[in-house]
Amino acid sequence: MALALVMVGLPARGKTYTARKVARYLSWRGVRTKVFNVGNYRRARSGAQVPHSFFDPANPEGFSARREAAEAAMDDMVGWFSAGGEVGIYDATNSTRARRTWVMEQLGRAGASLAFIESICDDPSLVEANIRETKLGSPDYVGMDSEAAARDFLSRIEHYVSVYEPIDDEGLSWIKIVDAGRQVIVNRAEDYLLTKVAAFVMNLHLIPKTLWFSRHGQSEFNMEDRVGGDSGLSS
Ligand code: SIN
Repeated sequence: MALALVMVGLPARGKTYTARKVARYLSWRGVRTKVFNVGNYRRARSGAQVPHSFFDPANPEGFSARREAAEAAMDDMVGWFSAGGEVGIYDATNSTRARRTWVMEQLGRAGASLAFIESICDDPSLVEANIRETKLGSPDYVGMDSEAAARDFLSRIEHYVSVYEPIDDEGLSWIKIVDAGRQVIVNRAEDYLLTKVAAFVMNLHLIPKTLWFSRHGQSEFNMEDRVGGDSGLSS
């Protein structure tokens, strides 16, 4: 039974991180899973270092190059399902209804059931943290001054903002992750694996968190050279 997970959201909203984590989790559960990242196809076809104007929806060359990258990734994902892949994750912005309709048509033909995972975040500090954490080290900005790279990436985001249409169809299956996990909304999770994915993303941390580990002091058992157990602490 093939399940297609389709990422949705503006750039720098943690889509690729989420896609990879979900893929790792499902692979660990023994499910044949693969991520198809449209950005990688775009880099392979058009080169990594394209200016933000490449992503302007009013730029016809950029638009058709991006469309071709999306189609190439989709062809590979459909091929993955034909070869017995169980879960394919289509990692792209998929930010317009028209694009999502096309994605549904393609994957419907492949016989896959489909759910969207949309990451929504309007908090500029979270977006900025994500850009600094992940985008400035991406192949798109190798060798570029970090401030110039951040400015270019913010302009790229603006191009997507100008056409972005969040998912609003309650007839579809989707998971919305709001503000890096502050809220997770699940709609029509009717597939067993999808319920597992929904529970998993609820526990994802889209931005780094500090974990503190602390050893306990000497325990009464420790005084007897015993390790473990559940004694109190020594005086
Ligand atoms: C990209 O080319 O980096 C992303 C393409 C997209 O999903 O819009």
